[in-house]
Amino acid sequence: MSEQIPAFRTTDEIQEMYLDFYTSHGYVHHRDSGILPHNDPTLLLINSGMAPMKPFFTGDQTPPSNLLTNVQNCIRTGDIDDIGDSHHGTSFNMMGSWQFGPEFSKERSTELAYELITDRFGLDPARLSASVLNSDAAARGIPADDESITAWQRFLPDERIVALPPEDNFWGPAGDSGPCGPCTEVFYDRGENFAESDDIDQPLRNGQHIEIWNAGVFMQYFMDRGGALTPLNSRSIDGGAGLERFAMVLQDAPSIHEIDRWLPVYNTVLADTQDVRSARIITDHMRTSEIMLQSGIIPANKAAAYILRRLLRRSMSIMAQHDIAQPRLIDYQEAVQECLPKIPDAIRSQSETKEIVSYEQQAFSKVLIRGAKLLKPFIDRGEISGSDVHNLHATHGIPTDMVREACIRSGVIFPESEYLNAQREHAQRS
Ligand code: ALA
Repeated sequence: MSEQIPAFRTTDEIQEMYLDFYTSHGYVHHRDSGILPHNDPTLLLINSGMAPMKPFFTGDQTPPSNLLTNVQNCIRTGDIDDIGDSHHGTSFNMMGSWQFGPEFSKERSTELAYELITDRFGLDPARLSASVLNSDAAARGIPADDESITAWQRFLPDERIVALPPEDNFWGPAGDSGPCGPCTEVFYDRGENFAESDDIDQPLRNGQHIEIWNAGVFMQYFMDRGGALTPLNSRSIDGGAGLERFAMVLQDAPSIHEIDRWLPVYNTVLADTQDVRSARIITDHMRTSEIMLQSGIIPANKAAAYILRRLLRRSMSIMAQHDIAQPRLIDYQEAVQECLPKIPDAIRSQSETKEIVSYEQQAFSKVLIRGAKLLKPFIDRGEISGSDVHNLHATHGIPTDMVREACIRSGVIFPESEYLNAQREHAQRS
């Protein structure tokens, strides 16, 4: 493997180069639609570049052009427990490219992705692999994706074209129903030092091989709420590349939270916590919270408002574990405000969002004090059961995230599955 080192690019430069590349190939720049879904009851928040464009895939609306590109703010909290590793985040910018109807071409989408990655961004072709859908999909009535294999064979040797099951290479829908289809993803090998698992038998090792581009979701089906697939009238392609992951790779940064755009926030938190995982989580959560707040969401106990509350409270729970004075949260928020690019459709000013966080912080401080007292006997004993966790939450209002963070910090095993069972039993009883 050659040791080619790509040029350092700022996050802003990467975004600009991406859009320039696609517009120079005839793609029309489409706006970022913001994080609030419009007329889409299947989603709490925009979780992908394609989510605001669903009507173009279903044929309900005609796109302004059959070739579109944009950079879309996305919030995706399904991986919240993975935050702290190098590459997961609760929000990201999806650099997207779309080929609708007559422009559908797997050859074209892979060719353009490969050209941008290697020629413009200068990543070493010897470090790239691509995953494609394997034949397991046949059991679900989805044909294997031989076209993608052929498309990649023009650039990559066979041993770096990896066939994976539908769990990995069938994307969507965004929400509980909508357009979806098989996909092909591009991975960059950062080297063994970055491996986050010991699983050497895996063709693509977590952390070492980073997915940098979903070079094409081949939108061919509509999935209904029951999971049944029907073919869409016309096929389209949704390609998406995470801006922060590209920045991480091109800047050789240890994580997406330590790229140029977020490093000032990360360093501020790290100086207090002296703990990488905590600094990554708080940087991530405060950044996502600020986007939600500026977009008009207020912390509460339901739907998207609950996600926001959880992000803020989890940050405060981690701070408490490091004995950081709670008002420091506002300093972290200010650091985020300095770094955050303008949010589309923002309806709240920075001072308004600070007021909301300050209110939430004061209200939760009391819970933190009460929670610490209630948790102490368990932490001292070095043991807590699933029903204890459930009880702390249901009876005393102590968030599970707070219990989990206290356990992590003191080396006590958090009884994840036992807790879920206790929760289920309680729900059945009531
Ligand atoms: N919509 C695709 C994804 O999010 C590109 O990976």
